[in-house]
Amino acid sequence: MLLRVYDRMYSGLNKVLIFKSSAQRAHDTVIAILRLVERFPFTIPLAKAIRSFISQDCLVTVGGVILSRPLILAAGLVKGDGFIDEETALNEVQASGRNILPGCRIMPALVGPTEFGSFTRSPRPGNPSTVFWRHASSRSTQNRVGLKNPGARAAAAFLAMRKAQLPEEFGINIAVSPGVHDINQQEREVIESLEFFLHEGVLPAWFTLNLSCPNTEDDPLGHQLEAETRRLCGAFIKRLEERALSIPLWVKISPGLAAEQYHALVCIFAEVGVKAVVATNTLPAPSPENSGQVAGLGGGALFDATLEAVKHLREEIVRSKAAIDIIACGGILDGASFQAYRDLGVKAAQYWSALVYRGPLAAALIESELAAYEYEYEAAHSESLA
Ligand SMILES: Cc1cc2nc3c(=O)[nH]c(=O)nc-3n(C[C@H](O)[C@H](O)[C@H](O)COP(=O)(O)O)c2cc1C
Repeated sequence: MLLRVYDRMYSGLNKVLIFKSSAQRAHDTVIAILRLVERFPFTIPLAKAIRSFISQDCLVTVGGVILSRPLILAAGLVKGDGFIDEETALNEVQASGRNILPGCRIMPALVGPTEFGSFTRSPRPGNPSTVFWRHASSRSTQNRVGLKNPGARAAAAFLAMRKAQLPEEFGINIAVSPGVHDINQQEREVIESLEFFLHEGVLPAWFTLNLSCPNTEDDPLGHQLEAETRRLCGAFIKRLEERALSIPLWVKISPGLAAEQYHALVCIFAEVGVKAVVATNTLPAPSPENSGQVAGLGGGALFDATLEAVKHLREEIVRSKAAIDIIACGGILDGASFQAYRDLGVKAAQYWSALVYRGPLAAALIESELAAYEYEYEAAHSESLA
């Protein structure tokens, strides 16, 4: 009942206020609000109280992790400020005490499992001017943020200084640096990024290796090369094993690959020990403001492509009996869209655009719609049996 009231109120707010301003402005405002509320310690227990009041935990074991609920806030919201170099980023963390990762405490408190990042080896300022749009008719988002982030070293240092306040359920998403094509350098950078977190004792529940960065002009078609995937994932897992850490590795991939590529990726993941595949990142499309630039589509416009990817992945997982979970991520906006993935055996999923269209309590709403759907299904099923 409460969630239904919230849903109506949030849709109203979207119509009369939020959607009256540009998506970019709304996004910037949200980040400013996250930064502001994290200045007041009482907001964290308050967010936790709201969460436990409106939703119940429902344990899900997926990708080597036990999650308190099946919906995970995807990478890209809690990713931090952009910087042009590491020295400036570290200085902001150590000297000025600035919150360079707004949302890292309040969002997990409010919504539960959250993936931080993507973080690259070195900071990135991101693309200039407008980088975020919405297409309300299809409940989609489009972005070309360009992997803006403070870099893995500053992010690790920042989280290490707040170790006692780290959430219980968070993942860290590490991305290959755009523009780096040499596989040796890619491997070095990915492992260095991992090491920054491990060295600082910042140990997430899972790591995600993001092998799909569609809006950086680097790999617009998201071609994951098999050899590179094997090498990077293998090195990542080896380093975790050398440190005797049982943190699972998930890998995030692109939509729109050929069936053979998805099949090949599953074989590699099984071979090296990847525990889950996050399918998918956004779908590359011309940017609304400059058709010569790529901007990644998420939300409703991504749903079909992600569903297709999940079907191919599942086919291969079933065929090869690989112990890999699929974490769907693409257009999960309501109970029905989540159910479409669950019909393919998906136990947990990630969401981003739902935040725009359903608000900060999107996960609780979607889960409650799913529960209603399951209830109706069971009622209809037991009637037909009777
Ligand atoms: C503004 C924005 C920034 C994003 N940044 C990242 C990122 O840094 N790393 C990443 O793996 N995915 C990133 N994503 C992709 C989302 O995590 C997610 O894969 C995608 O939006 C599809 O989910 P959706 O259909 O629920 O939006 C970003 C998405 C948006 C909208």
